[in-house]
Amino acid sequence: MPQNELPSSQRRTFLTVLLAGLGTALAAMAAWPLLRYLSPRDRGDADAKVTLARDKVPVGGAKFIDFRGRPAVVLQPKPGEFVALTAVCTHLGCIVKWVNAKQEFLCPCHGGRFSSSGQVLGGPPPKPLESFNVKLDGDKLVIG
Ligand code: FES
Repeated sequence: MPQNELPSSQRRTFLTVLLAGLGTALAAMAAWPLLRYLSPRDRGDADAKVTLARDKVPVGGAKFIDFRGRPAVVLQPKPGEFVALTAVCTHLGCIVKWVNAKQEFLCPCHGGRFSSSGQVLGGPPPKPLESFNVKLDGDKLVIG
C-alpha cells in the first residue's frame, strides 16, 4: 500500500461520516420549510392597525395592501363606504384578483368568485373572505 493512502477501514469510516453529515444537512433543508409552515406565526402584531390614505382607494376600485404580513384588499364600493377583506382565497389560499368590470373578486386558481363584500358567488371556496374593521379618521383609513 502506498504511503499516502488510508487503510480501507479508515476510508469506510470517513465515507460513512461524510454521507451521514450530508444526509443530515439535506434532511434539515427539507424539514425547515415544513417546520416554518407548521409553527404558529408571531402573534405580537395581531392587534396592529394599518393606516392608508383614503384617496388611495378609488370609488368602485380596489387597493391591495399588506395587512399584518398577509395580503388584503380595501374597496370603496360607494363614495365614503369602505370594506377591507383578506385577499387570500378560502379554498386553497391563492390570492384573489379584483375584476373592476364585474365588481367582484376572481380567484385565478380554480375560478372561485366573491362579491365586493367577500361573499362567495361561485366556485369551490367554502366560505366568505375574512373581513376587517375599517374606520375613517380624517383623510386616513384605519384598518384592523
Ligand atoms: Fe381559490 Fe381554489 S384557491 S378557488
